[in-house]
Amino acid sequence: MTASKDTRGFTSNLGAIVAAAGSAIGLGNIWRFPYTVGQNGGGAFLLLYILFVFFLGLPIMMSEFVIGRRSQRNTVGAFRQLGPQYKRWTFVGVLGIVAAFLIYSFYSTVAGWTLNYVFLSGSGQLSGRTPEEVSQVFASFTSGTAAPLVCQLAFILLTAAVVLLGVQKGIEKCTKILMPLLLVLMLLLCVRSLTLRGSSAGLAFLFEPDFSKLTWSSVLSALGQALFSLSIGMGALVTYGSYIRKEDNLFKTGVCVAGADTLIALLSGIAIFPAVFAFGMSPASGPSLVYEVLPNVFGSMPMGALFAVLFFLLLSIAALTSTISLLEIVVLWAVEELHMKRVTATFLVSLLVFALGTVCTLSFGPFADLHIMGKTFFECLDHLTATYMMPIGALCIILFLGWRYPKAEVFDELTNQGRLKAGYFRVYYFVLRFLAPIALFIILIMGILGNS
Ligand code: PFF
Repeated sequence: MTASKDTRGFTSNLGAIVAAAGSAIGLGNIWRFPYTVGQNGGGAFLLLYILFVFFLGLPIMMSEFVIGRRSQRNTVGAFRQLGPQYKRWTFVGVLGIVAAFLIYSFYSTVAGWTLNYVFLSGSGQLSGRTPEEVSQVFASFTSGTAAPLVCQLAFILLTAAVVLLGVQKGIEKCTKILMPLLLVLMLLLCVRSLTLRGSSAGLAFLFEPDFSKLTWSSVLSALGQALFSLSIGMGALVTYGSYIRKEDNLFKTGVCVAGADTLIALLSGIAIFPAVFAFGMSPASGPSLVYEVLPNVFGSMPMGALFAVLFFLLLSIAALTSTISLLEIVVLWAVEELHMKRVTATFLVSLLVFALGTVCTLSFGPFADLHIMGKTFFECLDHLTATYMMPIGALCIILFLGWRYPKAEVFDELTNQGRLKAGYFRVYYFVLRFLAPIALFIILIMGILGNS
């Protein structure tokens, strides 16, 4: 049976690109990217981030696709399926499953906030307020108990519903329609933000690199942000790779996904930083940044309330296409390896995520004083996964493909059994074997030492 007739996967190359882009584009671009850029000093961090996306991220993404499509398995089963001699590497898949579970727990907290912002802006509670009042609304909502938990649960249930519909009906269709709409709205926000008085300081912050602001720990953060944003280093794209048709071009798919993801992150930066400076706010205020800045931008534009509703709705959907992939990694593993029914696995995982997610959500309120190594529980999970688990996962994936798996097989998969030209292959393989592992290793070690 050819892959194209296989009901396992995506129905077209566009479908695969859109679904992988849907996983990549999410809160990581619009919520996490601006606040990490803000905390790490702006331009120099951005430059590093872009370098990491294209020189490390893209090859790692292609490698995940290769492992997934070649094995036609979930991220744990994939290594075993490629050959019994690789059984030992299944630990990489297990690490990915754990990372997906942890990320989903704190990601759903922020996704819940986004959902609530649809209602807050729709009911006019954000209109006509001063920047201080907007920050107050954010603080009082997130520090509550019932409201943020209900929003988080709603989001988790929504994700479970889409995952239950399956790959083609759920993931592919949803994403195809809604992602382009998000792009249009981001462009609109950029125009408004750039025309605010005093916006040029924000552009300078974002685009004028000041390398004196870089430390090893911010280099590691830039790497973590690049991997987080591209959804790599934990097998999400091994899982999606197993759904890509045999005739599709993996390199082209990777370039499109990395390009689209970077475009949205950049637009998000251009929408946020000019406004941050125009409203006299601090770029380094952390996870609350977007929720405190954007309502002011909407407040200063005609039909702002309408655009705000639309924006937070689309952001919720962007988050949804990412949480779908996070849940799908764990569910596909439970279905294929533990032989669970899809429904049982979906509900069980969702329930466990909500249990851990509750602690994340409450760490902005009742559990705010619960600190682990100087960080709240939420910050801890965010930091642990993006800064350590994803780079370590990425390192293992490229070591496997570059040093353990035969080169001819990698070539065969990337060229669709010799049918596609692959002029990039020599560069790709060099990066895979030497550049990427060395760079990842140095950054990890120096970053860990810098953080301690
Ligand atoms: N890339 C997603 C984002 O930027 O929002 C987050 C994410 C999704 C990370 C799926 C990892 C993953 F497996």
